[in-house]
Amino acid sequence: MLSRKSVTAASAGFWMKSFGPLVVLSSLFCLTSGSSERDRVHDLMSRFPLIDGHNDLALQLRILHNNRLSQVDLYNLSKVSTDITRLHAGHVQAQMFAVYVLCGAQQKDAVRLTLEQIDVVRRMCSEYQDFELVTSAQGLRDSAMRRKIACLISVEGGHSIDSSLAALRMFYRLGVRSMSLTHTCNTPWAESSSKLYDVYRRQNDSLTAFGKAVVEEMNRVGMIVDLSHTSWDTASAALQHSKAPVIFSHSSSFSVCGHGRNVPDRLLLDLKQQRGLIMVNFHSNFVSCSDEANISHVADHFDHIKQVAGAESVGVGGDFDGAVNFPLGLEDVSKYPALIQELLRRNWTESELADVLRHNFLRVFEEVERVRDQLSSTRPSEVQIPLEEVQNPCRLVLRPPSPRGSSHLSPSSRAQHGPRGLLLLAVVLRLSSRLVIE
Ligand SMILES: *[C@@H]1O[C@H](CO)[C@@H](O)[C@H](O)[C@H]1NC(C)=O
Ligand SMILES: *[C@@H]1O[C@H](CO)[C@@H](O)[C@H](O)[C@H]1NC(C)=O
Ligand SMILES: *[C@@H]1O[C@H](CO)[C@@H](O)[C@H](O)[C@H]1NC(C)=O
Ligand SMILES: [Zn+2]
Repeated sequence: MLSRKSVTAASAGFWMKSFGPLVVLSSLFCLTSGSSERDRVHDLMSRFPLIDGHNDLALQLRILHNNRLSQVDLYNLSKVSTDITRLHAGHVQAQMFAVYVLCGAQQKDAVRLTLEQIDVVRRMCSEYQDFELVTSAQGLRDSAMRRKIACLISVEGGHSIDSSLAALRMFYRLGVRSMSLTHTCNTPWAESSSKLYDVYRRQNDSLTAFGKAVVEEMNRVGMIVDLSHTSWDTASAALQHSKAPVIFSHSSSFSVCGHGRNVPDRLLLDLKQQRGLIMVNFHSNFVSCSDEANISHVADHFDHIKQVAGAESVGVGGDFDGAVNFPLGLEDVSKYPALIQELLRRNWTESELADVLRHNFLRVFEEVERVRDQLSSTRPSEVQIPLEEVQNPCRLVLRPPSPRGSSHLSPSSRAQHGPRGLLLLAVVLRLSSRLVIE
């Protein structure tokens, strides 16, 4: 800051000698208007600090450090776009941290890996006094008063619950307050926008009966339904089925950039009607449909969504550390003020920006809590996914013991019991009985 000012002063002296007072006056005017714009943004963001919908720092902690927090200084991380120093500089007051595990873990150890990601976010947010874990809208407001950065936990991808409503409920108990129904893989009950993985292909059952039960249970416990990464059909079905408003935690506008991860206008209209929220993703490939973008491209998404669905439907979900290419001027979490400055230039009012920065999210969260309270007399759902929809070798299926004398296992029941373990058991039993007899 200081050095930039002195450089500008020196060059102002140079221009004075060469071109006279007129140029100096106009360049001084630019300088003061530029800095007063910046002051205005910082003042606005101090009063209405940002709640951001999506950040993948926890994934980077896994990739780069195998979740060994003791090896890093979260005030100053060099290989990533997020650290505490830059969160403060960017006026980020609350961050939804994704606990994401790769789709390759579906049908394997997705639940354990998700638990480990929840663990690392919880540790990070208790070991550093700048952070605190928050699990309610009131908690968000309180943490702002205490000048803390609130950590919200969000499961990214329904594969993390392994088609179990009990697992979903236990994630809630651990502090998870939002879940996206899919990541880049279909789950047995919801469809992804991506065709990257060839699993659970489906025709028109984009949110199955079990998928609807997941949405209902999320409504009942008070977990925000996140539709980023789902197919449009799944998003549409979930928008219709959810009793509480839903969010797209990190998606942009399909009309501005025709990428499958973005949201088409017809869904924006449904979202507006449902009083939900789309938190705009900054990832260059989603904002300009190319590897390169700048702040104008991102602001175009805000303008378009406001035009279609109103400023009350817009939020910010930067997706930092979840992708590689970010726009010029929006490279890390310290850069949010540059975007707000651009939106002010585009005649967004301070009240609209206060909504975008935090009020819209608080409204949705409070509405989700209200629906939860209304459903407080509803019992936990005991809906189970039909076995044939989830059958895979890693799933142990417990059955009541078969009646005496019918220990014979048919091939199909053997498959359901987990073939290898049972075969092994049978071989051991037969061997041991032979040993005794012989
Ligand atoms: C942050 O860490 C880098 C080394 O990774 C160091 O060069 C730099 O001085 C540190 N910055 C602060 C503010 O501590
Ligand atoms: C798709 O929908 C049609 C009618 O809307 C129905 O007849 C058909 O069985 C459905 N297919 C699947 C795979 O659910
Ligand atoms: C962003 O890039 C576009 C070209 O892709 C250009 O027209 C526009 O002026 C740039 N905006 C900024 C703020 O640099
Ligand atoms: Zn994502």
